[in-house]
Amino acid sequence: MSIGVAVLGSTGYTGAELIRLLDAHPHFEILHLAAHSQAGKKVSEVLPSIASQSANKTLAKADDVLPHDVELVFTALPHAAAAKSVKKALDAGKKVVDLSADFRHPNLINYQDAYGLEHPFPELLGSSVYGLTEHAREDVAKTNLVANPGCYPTSVLLPLIPLLKQKLVETSSIIIDAKSGTSGAGRAAKTDLLYCEINESMAAYGLPKHRHAWEMEEWAGAYTGQDVQVRFVPHIIPMTRGMLSTIHLNGKKCEQWHSVLSDAYQDEPFVNVLPLGKLPTTGAVKGSNRCEIGVVALSEAEAVVVSCIDNLLKGASGQAVQNANVMFGLDEMSGLSINAAWP
Ligand SMILES: NC(=O)c1ccc[n+]([C@@H]2O[C@H](COP(=O)([O-])OP(=O)(O)OC[C@H]3O[C@@H](n4cnc5c(N)ncnc54)[C@H](OP(=O)(O)O)[C@@H]3O)[C@@H](O)[C@H]2O)c1
Repeated sequence: MSIGVAVLGSTGYTGAELIRLLDAHPHFEILHLAAHSQAGKKVSEVLPSIASQSANKTLAKADDVLPHDVELVFTALPHAAAAKSVKKALDAGKKVVDLSADFRHPNLINYQDAYGLEHPFPELLGSSVYGLTEHAREDVAKTNLVANPGCYPTSVLLPLIPLLKQKLVETSSIIIDAKSGTSGAGRAAKTDLLYCEINESMAAYGLPKHRHAWEMEEWAGAYTGQDVQVRFVPHIIPMTRGMLSTIHLNGKKCEQWHSVLSDAYQDEPFVNVLPLGKLPTTGAVKGSNRCEIGVVALSEAEAVVVSCIDNLLKGASGQAVQNANVMFGLDEMSGLSINAAWP
C-alpha cells in the first residue's frame, strides 16, 4: 500500500526530520515538498542531510501546493501560517497532521492568551484531536485533523497523566524545570542562537508564562477532569537536540508512583519507564521516538519525575508519523525505528 503525502514547511528542522522518516517509511510516499523563502530550490541545495529520493525534488511554495494526488498533508509551519494551509487541505478532503500550535487549543481563549493572536478558523478548533498518541489512539484513528502536541507538553504530559488520573498529585503545586536543545527554536536565524551567544551558556526564557504552560494545563485538565496549574520554567542549553523535563510533585503514596507509571506504559513501545532508581538521559533517546521516564520518591508526599525525549522526534516529527500511522490503520511503529542514535 502506498499513501501519497505532502510536507509543507519541509526545509525547517521538523520538516527535514519528516523527510528522513517518511522516505524510509514502508507505506507513505512523499509526493510534494513545500517551503517559503527557499521555494524554487532543489531539496539537496537546502537540506544537506537528505540523500534519499527526495533530494532531487524541487521545493514548491506552501501556498501553491494543491495536494490533489495526496491523501495526507503534514504541516510543519510556524503557528498562524499553518492554519491557512490546514484549512485548505481539509477543504480538499485530505487528512492533516499539523505540527504547529494552531489547533492544539480547543479553548479559543487559551490560544489567544498563549499566542497573542486571533484564530483565523476558530470553528475548526473543536474538531481537531490532540495527538498525544498513547492517550488518544481511538480519536486519532477517526479524525481528519491531528494537532500534534508541543515538545515540552509531550515530555510533561506523558508522565503526569497516569499519576493525575489516579489522583496522586496535588494539582496546584506542580513545578517543571525543563531544558531544550536549540533545534527546539527552529532553523530561522536568531541572534541569541548564534554559536557565540549559546555556546557555553544557558538561559531561562518564556517567563512569566511560556506558551506551552497553557497547553500543559489545558490537556492535563482535559484528560483527568482536574484543574491543573503548572509553574513551568524552560531553559535553552547548548545542545543540538534533546529535551529533559524535571517535574517536582507533591502528593500521596509516592512510593507507588513508579509502579503506576510502569503499569500505564508497560505495553507502549515508545514510552519506557526506567527501573526504580534510574534516571533518563537525553543521549539515550536522541534520534528515536521514545520518551524515557525516571521516578524518585523523596518522601511519602514528595517526588521528582524526570522525562526525556528528542524534541524533533517524540516531541514533533516522530509523534506526527506515529499519529499518521494510527490515522491510516497502519502498524503504529511503521517507519519509526525503536533505537536511538548513540552515542
Ligand atoms: N523545533 C521543534 O523542536 C518543534 C517541536 C514541536 C513542534 N514544533 C512546531 O513545528 C513547526 C515547525 O517548526 P520548525 O522548528 O521545523 O521551524 P523552522 O525550522 O523555523 O521551519 C519553518 C518552516 O516553515 C517555512 N515557513 C516559514 N515561514 C513561513 C510562512 N510564513 N508561510 C509558509 N511557510 C513558512 C520555512 O520555509 P523556508 O525555510 O523556505 O523559509 C520552513 O520550511 C512550528 O509550528 C513549531 O512550533 C517545533
